[in-house]
Amino acid sequence: MAVQLIFILHLIIGVYCHVSAFERRDSHYVKLPVVHSTNKKVFSDFGDRRAITTVPLANRSDVAYYAQLNIGTPAQQVFVQLDTGSFELWVNPDCSDLQGSADIRFCQAVGHYDSTSSSTATQLAGTKTLRYGIGSANIQYVTDDIGLAGTDSQLKGVQFGVATDTTDEFAGILGIGHGLNVTIRYKNFIDELEAQGVTETKAFSLALGSKDEQEGVVIFGGLDTGKFTGTLQTLPILAAKDSPDQVPRYWVNLTSLSLNPPTGAEKTYENTTMAVFLDSGATLTLLPTKLANAIAADFGADATDANGFYPVSCSLNDMPGTLNFAFDGVTIKVPYNEVVRELQTSFGTQCYLGISPSDDFILLGDTMLRSAYAVFDQTNNAIHLAQYVNCGTNEMEITDSTNMTAITGDCDPPTAKNVVSTSSAIPTATPTSAASTTAITTGAAAKTTSAIAGASASASAGVSTVAQSSSSRVCLGWWTGLAMAVFWAAMAR
Ligand SMILES: *[C@@H]1O[C@H](CO)[C@@H](O)[C@H](O)[C@H]1NC(C)=O
Ligand SMILES: *[C@@H]1O[C@H](CO)[C@@H](O)[C@H](O)[C@H]1NC(C)=O
Ligand SMILES: *[C@@H]1O[C@H](CO)[C@@H](O)[C@H](O)[C@H]1NC(C)=O
Ligand SMILES: *[C@@H]1O[C@H](CO)[C@@H](O)[C@H](O)[C@H]1NC(C)=O
Ligand SMILES: *[C@@H]1O[C@H](CO)[C@@H](O)[C@H](O)[C@H]1NC(C)=O
Repeated sequence: MAVQLIFILHLIIGVYCHVSAFERRDSHYVKLPVVHSTNKKVFSDFGDRRAITTVPLANRSDVAYYAQLNIGTPAQQVFVQLDTGSFELWVNPDCSDLQGSADIRFCQAVGHYDSTSSSTATQLAGTKTLRYGIGSANIQYVTDDIGLAGTDSQLKGVQFGVATDTTDEFAGILGIGHGLNVTIRYKNFIDELEAQGVTETKAFSLALGSKDEQEGVVIFGGLDTGKFTGTLQTLPILAAKDSPDQVPRYWVNLTSLSLNPPTGAEKTYENTTMAVFLDSGATLTLLPTKLANAIAADFGADATDANGFYPVSCSLNDMPGTLNFAFDGVTIKVPYNEVVRELQTSFGTQCYLGISPSDDFILLGDTMLRSAYAVFDQTNNAIHLAQYVNCGTNEMEITDSTNMTAITGDCDPPTAKNVVSTSSAIPTATPTSAASTTAITTGAAAKTTSAIAGASASASAGVSTVAQSSSSRVCLGWWTGLAMAVFWAAMAR
């Protein structure tokens, strides 16, 4: 009888061990909330024992997407803009350089890092000037430990820049494009995540979240099948030499662009087969002038204003209809209310098309990316893309053997109801001169050479690695117990 009880108990623990081992084995990924700069509650939902700040980032005049880093020892909390269009991390924008009062307050709220207050900081000799589509930063390199807010993960000795002087920047930038030996000579954030074993591959998935949701999620080394519908389609990243600006970026081929207007038939625009890059650091989507004009006309805008934006009616926010970006095997349908950009001004809410004309840079910015779920996969040199829908959370790790094309989202296709959601409340703020969050670096053309990172690849425990060690203790106990049960059973006989 006692033997049977012990056996049943062990069976239960055994099932737990196998289930948890299945779930947790090799779970090398970390998840960070993506904070919309317009989000008034900032992180309060995520606040847990690992202490996420509640600094209000609200009142930015335009939306941009931020992640929190805890830099140094003791940790200093800093928000940085997540930018797939650049390659390096830097902090400490010069807030006194800014004009708009909302920008200045925002800049002050993102946090400041002081290397002299960190026992783990090391100053490096290198400096560099980073130039973006709008703005620039002169940086001095340091290395320090970086904790990822809301997780137990910490990266040791990461090289990044501390700004000595910036122009038109109101937050630091976390460049998550290609790093070591591709664009720079030291390991960037994505390189370090892999080198230090926090992730198994150089891949991360990004869901910016809709305007209504006000928050999204980035998973380094993993993905969430509760954030998309359909199967992830793999698009090869174009080689730099085949790309329009010859810079290694997340360039992919767009096959065509079409419009499903609120009434009337679908319309496909001409000459829309082109290379585009995915840039979370850009507020707007930039398309060739002729095409941008054609789309704007269909949204009722004849021409751009003095700032280069197409003014449109705010009533478009409440209309059904989608702008469709087709790639090989997948079409991302962007609802009207995500295409339309809303700004609060002293004259009330003003609306603009989330697309601007540009004949230099063709990129898909936040106005398109909010409707996509994208896995940026440097290891396989591909973007895995699907339609964004949020139907819950179901995370998985991306390993070397993950077959990305076999992964299907848990969500149903968007219905008219969730395609067209009610327009969200955008906080009051004065408009600034624009898509000031656009971060297009001139990349390889950066001025000075960088110092080589002193970071050694000392393994640091990721979230799940910690979880795994406690579960493996239980499981070791189970095996010991099984051996004893077998022993007792043999004795009883
Ligand atoms: C944001 O604006 C609200 C009201 O306009 C104000 O009460 C609040 O202090 C502002 N917050 C910041 C961080 O500027
Ligand atoms: C980067 O380049 C350096 C110098 O050419 C080389 O020693 C190093 O192995 C390269 N690292 C990677 C990860 O390719
Ligand atoms: C992208 O499109 C160009 C022009 O149509 C084509 O030559 C190239 O092979 C395509 N590249 C990929 C990776 O699909
Ligand atoms: C499309 O490209 C062709 C060939 O370059 C050109 O003749 C035509 O005017 C273009 N159409 C539009 C709408 O840009
Ligand atoms: C990946 O999955 C797809 C779809 O299920 C399948 O067709 C393909 O053969 C798989 N590739 C590998 C290498 O297993």
